[in-house]
Amino acid sequence: MLYRLTRPALFTLDPERAHGLAIAALKAGPRGSPASAGALATEVAGLAFPNPLGMAAGFDKNGEVPDALLGQGFGFVEVGSITPRPQAGNPKPRLFRLPEDRAVINRMGFNNGGAAAAAARLAKRERRGIVGINIGANKDSADRVADYAQMTQVMAPLASYLAVNISSPNTPGLRALQDEGALTGLLDAVLEARGASGPPVFLKVAPDLEPADIDAIARIALYKQLGALIVSNTTISRPLLQSRFKGEAGGLSGAPLRDLALQRVRDFRAATGGALPLVGVGGIATAEDAWARIRAGASLVQLYSAMVYEGPGIARRIVRGLEALMLRDGFASVAEAVGSE
Ligand SMILES: Cc1cc2nc3c(=O)[nH]c(=O)nc-3n(C[C@H](O)[C@H](O)[C@H](O)COP(=O)(O)O)c2cc1C
Repeated sequence: MLYRLTRPALFTLDPERAHGLAIAALKAGPRGSPASAGALATEVAGLAFPNPLGMAAGFDKNGEVPDALLGQGFGFVEVGSITPRPQAGNPKPRLFRLPEDRAVINRMGFNNGGAAAAAARLAKRERRGIVGINIGANKDSADRVADYAQMTQVMAPLASYLAVNISSPNTPGLRALQDEGALTGLLDAVLEARGASGPPVFLKVAPDLEPADIDAIARIALYKQLGALIVSNTTISRPLLQSRFKGEAGGLSGAPLRDLALQRVRDFRAATGGALPLVGVGGIATAEDAWARIRAGASLVQLYSAMVYEGPGIARRIVRGLEALMLRDGFASVAEAVGSE
C-alpha cells in the first residue's frame, strides 16, 4: 500500500537513483528477523530454506542489505555479482524501466565495490538466514577463470552458497564460459578453490541457450555435483515490447522473460532427469508464477524486476499465496510439488 503511493514519485526519478534510495531505505529501516520455517520450508543442496522465494542477484550487488531483505520475508537472498577488483560498470544511463511491459533492461556491467569491501562487510554479519554470494569476473581481467577461483577462496567462508555467474550479457565474452570445454575448466578451478568443506556451488545460466548447450551444461553440472543450477539470467532476445526503451541494449528481465525462463526450467528438468535442483528465476511476479515454476521443476525461485513494480511487500504476498496454492493442490511440501506438472 505504502509502495503503491510512493511509486509514482519514485518512477519520476532516474531508475538508478531510485534503486540507491531503496538500498538506503533498507539500510535505515528496521531489520526484522529472517522468515521462520513453516509449511513452505524446504531443503536444497543441504541447506534448510524457511521458504523457497529468494531475492535474485543484482539488487544488492555489494552485500549491503541482505539481512534487511531477509526481514522482508524472503527465504534467502543472493548478493552480488561481486568481482575481485572494484569496477565502475558501463556508462550511464544503463538501467531502464519499461512500465508498459512490466520489464527492465539493464547493461550495468558488474558495477560493484570489489571483493575486499564486500567481504569485510559480510564478515560483520550475524549470519542468520541463507545468504548466497554471486561471483563474477572483472571486465579487464587477463584470466577470468583465475578471477572466479580467487572469488571462491575469498567468499566461500562467508556464503551459504556460491553462485557462479557466467551468464551476464553485459561483460563481453563472459557467456562463452558456458561452452563445454571452458565450463569444465572453470568449475574444476572453482571446486578446487572451494575445497572439500566449502559451501555448495550453484551455476547461473542464460536463458538464451540451444538444446545442445542445455544438454552439455546439465551433464557437466551433474558430473561436478553442483548444488543447483540457477535458471536464468536476463535475455538478450527481444519479445514484442511496447515501451520507448525497447531498443536499449542489455539484458531484458521481468514479465516478457517469464515464459522463456519457465521453458528453460522445463528443459533443464528434462536434461537432468530431476537429479539436480533448479532455481527458477525470470519474470516471477505472483504466487501463481512462482507455483508454476515449482511445478515445472524449480526447487527454489527468485525475483528482482517484479520488486521494482510491486515494492518489497511482494515477498510476503507471494509466500502467503504459495502456501494457499500448495494446500489447494493437495501437496504436503514444496519438495513434493517440484516437477509435478
Ligand atoms: C538491474 C539488474 C541488475 C542485475 N544484476 C545481476 C548481477 O549482478 N548478477 C546476476 O547474476 N544477475 C543479475 N541480474 C539478473 C537477475 O538476478 C535475474 O536473473 C533476472 O533479472 C531475471 O529475474 P526477474 O525477471 O525477476 O528480474 C540483474 C538484473 C537486473 C534487473
